[in-house]
Amino acid sequence: MPLVSMNEFLPQAKANKFAVGQFNMNNLEFAQAITEAAKELNSPFIFGVSEGALKYMGIEYTVAIAEAAAKQSGLPIALHLDHGSTFEVAMKCIRAGFSSVMFDGSHHSFEDNIRLTKEVVKAAHAMGVSVEGELGTIGGVEDDISVDAEHASLAKPEEAIRFYEETGVDCLAIAVGTAHGMYAGEPNIHFDIIEKVASAIPVPIVLHGGSGVPDEMLRNSIAAGVGKINVNTENQVALTQTIRDVLNADAKVYDPRKYLVPARKAMVEVVKSKIKIFGSENQA
Ligand code: G3H
Ligand code: ZN
Repeated sequence: MPLVSMNEFLPQAKANKFAVGQFNMNNLEFAQAITEAAKELNSPFIFGVSEGALKYMGIEYTVAIAEAAAKQSGLPIALHLDHGSTFEVAMKCIRAGFSSVMFDGSHHSFEDNIRLTKEVVKAAHAMGVSVEGELGTIGGVEDDISVDAEHASLAKPEEAIRFYEETGVDCLAIAVGTAHGMYAGEPNIHFDIIEKVASAIPVPIVLHGGSGVPDEMLRNSIAAGVGKINVNTENQVALTQTIRDVLNADAKVYDPRKYLVPARKAMVEVVKSKIKIFGSENQA
């Protein structure tokens, strides 16, 4: 099966109240673990690739790995640029074979965010590529994007509705109280904002900063209208902690497979647990 745009499964997610996971791909092992978990549970999913991960892996390898995953698994998989910062990087990814892009214009003024996002939507839709937009600034650290708490700003429902109407994005990330990275305490998610926006637009809401959000809060977010949930840090922690444990247990280990195989297995368990909570099991 070729890579697909998010419109292959997000409309069903919206209609049937489940969420599709965006699991960030940072290298081969992430891609293999995510695909293995989704195959076991027959779930669609989205490979999210940040600009930092793109630099690390290289765009050709990134697309080749994603295409191999889609071919080998037969699952509907979208390859999605995560937090794309410019029109140019979005177009570069589409030319290389990405089936979906996010334009993150949340650091621009509201009007500029609309104007810039509209440009990406026009070009991407002409090529059958889905687009995610962002409104309100999500806190935390994601690659080299860092937003401290006082600068994180909640999305205003009326602005979010107008943003969708003027841009035509296929899903909308709004700042509702989550943050990138693990949480010190429990996040304070504004379900009322999700509900107000989700009930007024035909596309799903995206929840960024999915790592560390308690299961019940994830379920409540989906019930309120979230149809795409992004998870990266929990997989990074699972992989790194497993590697650390293996190397601490035996200083003589030198074959990377001795720690990458268990690390990959740890990520399979993280992804499976999220797919079950998101409700996308058997939705492929
Ligand atoms: O865009 C990526 C996600 O928002 C990742 O957030 O690392 O907190 O799971 P997370
Ligand atoms: Zn994010």
